[in-house]
Amino acid sequence: MDKKINIGIVGCGTVGLNVIKILQKHRSDINKKIGCGINIKWVCDKDSSRLKASNLPKEKLTTDSNKVIQDPEVNILVELIGGTDISRKIIIEALNNNKHVVTANKAVLSKYWDEIFSLALRKRVSVYFEASVGAGIPVIQSLNEGLVANKIQSIIGILNGTTNFILSKMTDDNMSFDEALKLAQKSGFAEADPTLDINGSDTAHKLSVLASIAYGNHLPFEKIYREGIANINLIDIKYAKNEFGYILKLLAIVKSDNNKISATVYPAFISAEHPLATVENEYNAIYIFGDSAGDIMFYGKGAGGPAAASGVTSDIVCLARNIFYRTAGKFPYVSYDKTLKLNIKPIEETECKYYLRFTTVDKPGVLANISGILGKNGVSIAACFQEQRHKKQSVPIFILTHKAKEGNIKKALKTIDSLSVINSKTVMLRILE
Ligand code: HSE
Repeated sequence: MDKKINIGIVGCGTVGLNVIKILQKHRSDINKKIGCGINIKWVCDKDSSRLKASNLPKEKLTTDSNKVIQDPEVNILVELIGGTDISRKIIIEALNNNKHVVTANKAVLSKYWDEIFSLALRKRVSVYFEASVGAGIPVIQSLNEGLVANKIQSIIGILNGTTNFILSKMTDDNMSFDEALKLAQKSGFAEADPTLDINGSDTAHKLSVLASIAYGNHLPFEKIYREGIANINLIDIKYAKNEFGYILKLLAIVKSDNNKISATVYPAFISAEHPLATVENEYNAIYIFGDSAGDIMFYGKGAGGPAAASGVTSDIVCLARNIFYRTAGKFPYVSYDKTLKLNIKPIEETECKYYLRFTTVDKPGVLANISGILGKNGVSIAACFQEQRHKKQSVPIFILTHKAKEGNIKKALKTIDSLSVINSKTVMLRILE
């Protein structure tokens, strides 16, 4: 095979090393599929000790990303360093040097989508990003191509392995949040600093990518309403599971309704019967409703080196084939219309059912007071339970509501939480039908 497509990998962590492994292990199969070879011309990392782990000849290793960006023989730059600032600079410079780009970096895409894709369009090169959502789950190409004939009415995803693992352990093994997080870190898939996972940012970055493809223009990260799981209490997980058959998941939800889009990330209860409720531990799932295709669910490992490397390598192979057949960059990979302004619905206008846990003193009139305030704000009660007082001064009151507007619920809870009979901030969790 004479012709070779040259790639330069920038970032030699677990994902980079697994990409090298896959390209070596499946070299002859991949070559047959493309019609030419793939040559790893450069592997770059600022930490030279990480480069050694690649076992590639010394002349392919560098700590200087400019060597990769400026090498005219490199066809594809594979950005695997994460973060947003240096990665943006590397991607932009690579595109300016007429290189195609593969990235697994949802944070940089969600922040610089406009800049990256308008430059790629101008330079007639492509940016592929299959591993940015769901690691090895091929959801990007499916949404971008396989479902292109559909109007996407909703996407509901469990998009973060770390938080799904923590919630699974709390639900199934009664672990506390801290114990479950420690176990996730010990098992090797939670980041050393899991802040972006726990606070919902990683999930929101991924939702931004999915929604931007589905709706043809950038849905910025900042427009996505976001709550994480740091304040989730075992009491609520256990009570809702045992009494109502609900399972708590950190959900990314985007819905299109009358040309308005709502985009949210928050922990929410779903029925134990829902397919997403069975997605456990570090697994991810994406549930898409297209107007013609109907319900579609993608499921698989959403984190970890080999799974992410599967997505990255598939991008490299697809791009290499396009380069070999001279079609790469001839057409934009994602539909991109800067003039289309997405009309985002504020969270206050969205509606769902709610689970509320009040911590109150046990005395006459408390429940009437709470239900009166809910009623005044247009919130209708579907079920109500109060636990018996034992020795403690406070008692929990659990209320499930019918569908209500988020703005109304928040107004009601502000008033309720200011009552002297309320001993701590009311827990409010959404219930997804
Ligand atoms: N930290 C992410 C997760 C994987 O736990 O799902 C990388 O996106």
